[in-house]
Amino acid sequence: MKRKILLSALLLPAVMAFGQQYGGMWIPTELNEKEMKDLGMKITAKDIFDPSKASIKDAVVQFDGGCTAEIISPKGLLLTNHHCGYDNIQSHSSVENDLLTNGFWAKDMTGELPNPGVTVDFITDIKEVTKDILAGTEGLTGADLSKKIADNTEAYKKAQKTESYQTISVKPMYYGNKYYAYVIETYKDIRLVGAPPSSIGKYGSDTDNWVWPRHTGDFSMFRIYADRNNKPAEYSKDNIPYVPKHFLPISIKDKKEDDFTFVFGFPGRTTEYLPAVAVEKIMNEIDPAMIAVRNIALKTLDEKMRTDNATRIKYASKYARISNAWKKWQGEIEGLKKSNAVGKKQQYEQTLISKNPAIKTTIDQLNLKYNEQAPYALHRAYYSEIVRNSETYTLAGIFNNYIQSYEAGKMDDKNVEALKERLTEIYKDYDAELDAKVTAKVLALYANKTPSNFLPRDFNLLKDEGKNLGMMDNVSKMSMITGRTKDDKNVAKNMDKLFADQKTLVENLKKDPLVQMFGTFKTSYLETTDKQVTALQADIDVLQKKFMAQQMETDKDRKFFPDANSTLRVTYGKVKGSNPRDAVTYGYQTHLAGVLEKYIPGDYEFDLPKKLINLYNTKDYGIYKDKTGDVPVNFTATNHTTGGNSGSPALDAYGNLIGLNFDRQWEGTMSDINYDPRLCRNIMVDTKYILFVIDKYADAKWLINEMKIVK
Ligand code: ARG
Ligand code: ASP
Repeated sequence: MKRKILLSALLLPAVMAFGQQYGGMWIPTELNEKEMKDLGMKITAKDIFDPSKASIKDAVVQFDGGCTAEIISPKGLLLTNHHCGYDNIQSHSSVENDLLTNGFWAKDMTGELPNPGVTVDFITDIKEVTKDILAGTEGLTGADLSKKIADNTEAYKKAQKTESYQTISVKPMYYGNKYYAYVIETYKDIRLVGAPPSSIGKYGSDTDNWVWPRHTGDFSMFRIYADRNNKPAEYSKDNIPYVPKHFLPISIKDKKEDDFTFVFGFPGRTTEYLPAVAVEKIMNEIDPAMIAVRNIALKTLDEKMRTDNATRIKYASKYARISNAWKKWQGEIEGLKKSNAVGKKQQYEQTLISKNPAIKTTIDQLNLKYNEQAPYALHRAYYSEIVRNSETYTLAGIFNNYIQSYEAGKMDDKNVEALKERLTEIYKDYDAELDAKVTAKVLALYANKTPSNFLPRDFNLLKDEGKNLGMMDNVSKMSMITGRTKDDKNVAKNMDKLFADQKTLVENLKKDPLVQMFGTFKTSYLETTDKQVTALQADIDVLQKKFMAQQMETDKDRKFFPDANSTLRVTYGKVKGSNPRDAVTYGYQTHLAGVLEKYIPGDYEFDLPKKLINLYNTKDYGIYKDKTGDVPVNFTATNHTTGGNSGSPALDAYGNLIGLNFDRQWEGTMSDINYDPRLCRNIMVDTKYILFVIDKYADAKWLINEMKIVK
């Protein structure tokens, strides 16, 4: 008995004291129903997911392959985040009609805007298919094993009866110890219905990103359209609003601390079952390297963005993307340290070994392989961060691939068109002079940090940032791929003409100084690092699969859930504030008064629309205020979420919508590696704020009238 407690307690000591033992991201057909009920849930697991009848699952979709969205009316009205709909809102925007700045509200269904290419996926069934997929794999390893699994997967998919609008996706769980099959129905006519202005939907922008207390109205609305039979169809003006099997009633009841809540959506990626050594590498080597490269990129961009408005607009979205992960990794390191993640994992490993000595071999081998991989993995981190954050190198990389594809005879008209589109996208917001600075500086960091055995030929000459600046600017001015030359070889300016004669284009690209410089960089990386890091990773994957199985066999008292892999999951917890640092206590709820407290007129992050200020001044809150008399804006809870959960519905004990998930608290972003309910909080927009903005700010009562509101 003592042992039992010891084992779970070692990994999650705080959890027990907390009343919530497990946390986790559960497969909807295998819910931890008992704990959910203990924490206050009033519905059943079947009400959440039942393949044979309408259940909450029928109101939850994956939005365009990344985020989550939910249906909130009998007419297929979809709610997701503003940052999830951002690209679509942007694509309908122009200088004269800037929907990002002004917001957008369709007056009726005829005013809703189509978004070609956008899809939503319903999951209508989930089955465990481990036996089918792993049949005949005993004794196989490496490529043979992969091939057998791929063949079995194909055979399984073929054997299933599906409708024309359904697909089957088979996903590994627990590092390949189990497999699950998903039946997916994809709708393709998705129209934009409404979005608040960025000053509400992205309020606080990068400064407040990952931060609590938060005051962002991060939502937007779309609608699913279907053919006359309510089935998926390509866009057509004859399509009709989709009639869902289920839609979420919206609660505007006041929340209390410790209220039960669950989040239903598509978390992207977590790694909760790594050995201590892997966490130690992430915390001490990989995260710091990636942060260091981005520190430089962000600082260099910011200097110009602050002084030049055109640059600020050009780089706003890029800056946000770079800074999003940069900020998260910093929180992750802090949290891993603070929760003593490595120490706890080491202890846990010892406890596992004491129960099952065979685990020692696995751990020893993992330690060996991770340590062997470390220098390569670190070099890979620098390499990929440089290619990602230097747009000049990104471009050179694209042209480098292009030369190879051309020479392999792969550049048909379709591929050329796709490439030209991609390049046009990049050139549109590319400031070559500014990026030459970014490139010069990140290359100096790279040259200084990279051991000589990894450093490409001549890159030891790049250690001096000052010299690099002049050199990069010169090379950038001479190169045909930066858009800076005056001659007709300039690809950015003469794209159609140059691609019309690919032979000459390739000849000239091969002589280009930037394409050559990048070529040296990449060839060297492939030779010194890529093969090695990949081969070692394959060994690690085999060991990790074994370690996962051993954890599950040995720690019988622990409830295991598979790491996130963009499949549908349920996570649950309680509405809760937090105590992230000594003497710092956060409440669980923010209000409109707090939005006004952050207001900085004219600021690009904290400006507010006049109309919202007026509503605040006149206290015109209707039914959307809580017992304090103010409108609740955001709240936190202990739901275990990650990237991809953005736009996920937060539901109450009865399955009513109470919030819209959009972020996590900075101090708890290590939840992807080591979830700890003392520190980890997800952040949601309160349904009262969403409805208040739709009703009082946008005057879109016709949308409110579609919804079912629970008072
Ligand atoms: N941190 C949130 C997530 O990872 C929100 C990101 C969007 N907002 C932003 N300011 N970049 O995706
Ligand atoms: N903001 C994230 C998303 O876009 C959610 C998270 O990482 O907590 O999915």
